[in-house]
Amino acid sequence: MKRLVCVSNRISLPRRSAAGGLAVGVLAALQRIGGVWLGWSGETSDEPRAEPEVTVRDNVRYATIDLRSAELDRYYNGFCNSTLWPLFHYATGRFRYEYEDYEAYQAVNAQFARQLAGLLRPDDVVWVHDYQLIPLARYLRRLSFDGPIGFFLHIPFPPLQVLRVLPSHAEIVRDLCQYDLTGFQTEDDLHAFESCLELPAHAIAHVRNGSQLEVDGRTVRLGVYPIGVEADEVASEATEAMGEETVQRLIASLLGRKLIIGVDRLDYTKGLTERFGAFEHFLTTFPDNQGKVTFLQIAPLSRSDVLAYGEIRLALEQVAGRLNGRFGEADWTPVRYINRNFSHATLMGLLRASQVALVTPVRDGMNLVAKEFVAAQDPEDPGVLILSPLAGAARELTGALLVNPYDKRGIALALQTALHMPLGERRRRHEQMLGAVRRHDIHHWYREFLRDLTGERILGDSAAAATKSVDGLPQRESGRSGGRREVGAGRGVQDGSR
Ligand code: F6P
Repeated sequence: MKRLVCVSNRISLPRRSAAGGLAVGVLAALQRIGGVWLGWSGETSDEPRAEPEVTVRDNVRYATIDLRSAELDRYYNGFCNSTLWPLFHYATGRFRYEYEDYEAYQAVNAQFARQLAGLLRPDDVVWVHDYQLIPLARYLRRLSFDGPIGFFLHIPFPPLQVLRVLPSHAEIVRDLCQYDLTGFQTEDDLHAFESCLELPAHAIAHVRNGSQLEVDGRTVRLGVYPIGVEADEVASEATEAMGEETVQRLIASLLGRKLIIGVDRLDYTKGLTERFGAFEHFLTTFPDNQGKVTFLQIAPLSRSDVLAYGEIRLALEQVAGRLNGRFGEADWTPVRYINRNFSHATLMGLLRASQVALVTPVRDGMNLVAKEFVAAQDPEDPGVLILSPLAGAARELTGALLVNPYDKRGIALALQTALHMPLGERRRRHEQMLGAVRRHDIHHWYREFLRDLTGERILGDSAAAATKSVDGLPQRESGRSGGRREVGAGRGVQDGSR
């Protein structure tokens, strides 16, 4: 049986799970199939070790590498999160570009490839995740690995006219053709990528054969694989968490008021300032709700060293303060805005305790909070999902109230509709969405991708996978050595990508 080797920037370590749909999805695949997961440790070091540090838990071998802090700054804060992230989310106003960041991005990718090559066996199947590691296959091929390499993009892919803003756009497109299979969240992302093959001035010579492309003498297949959640596990986590103290205290504190919830990493793509503005408009337009509803926004901080994230944080603090100052009463705070995170199970309980979820990103690859909200509901008395059509999840969750994230009148009206929606309609909408969430769950996602990548079912059950040998690496428990700093590892909140 072939061995699966996943590679991503952020990795979910046994005792320090990471934020994001990527972390949850890859972990689900590896726990079921077994294999290796290589990624950044989340720490910086002045002298990174020559080989990855390895921790084995159950049938997964976690291999982590540290990055130098200057390198991390240009690669992670720079090219990944100030250049590619805004560009891929169509946010050209936030886009920054420095050639040195691009060089660091290439250097870190080359380093990942070297570390990976040291772990690989000839019959391994490699699965690379997300925009931080687009050039990895090119570097790995240079190191003579010729097994299957797949790539999945967890975030949106922009159309040609947006991508062209990046000076090195042609390299990005070409690098995505170095894989055997390149997967996207939605048809829109796939079409956007296809549009980029026709780059003016650098058109990439290719021959098409259905979903296959011949580029530079290689064949790459393109596909759409919408990521999902573990529907049954979310449902049981949510049910159980209703008995948890945190959830019970929240419910008691509401004094019978209805609860609107938002759960997002603090990121300008999540439409949070727009959402707060829309809630303010809702309280103004439908004043009967004043004193009767509470909006809980959970927004753990992320990428705090990137300027745009500091700006959005300030903006949100201002709007939340203004709103509470304007509408608050001695015994009622309209918005509860918190930056701390909760365990995944508690979050699922909080979602179940809410009557309405606001998932209104201005651009999002998928948004797994939307799917988790659906899976966490009591089917007998479900809450209502208000969803942005600019999230990948909107393609599947047609039972949601779809509303443009910039349209505060539309969101205000959707809130009013949701809060007064009759039980029969709530159930009908929820049934549609739950069916979709179950059909395209997390197991469906990785099974489909890996089947298309390998042309076979490499998926053994976890018991079979657990007997695989994992030789060739120094093995040690992940004791944290001095001089290393943990950077931005989160827990619980997922991304649109999540
Ligand atoms: O899905 C998008 C993504 O950037 C993932 O690649 C990442 O794991 C997650 O969001 C969280 O972001 P970060 O690793 O920058 O904290």
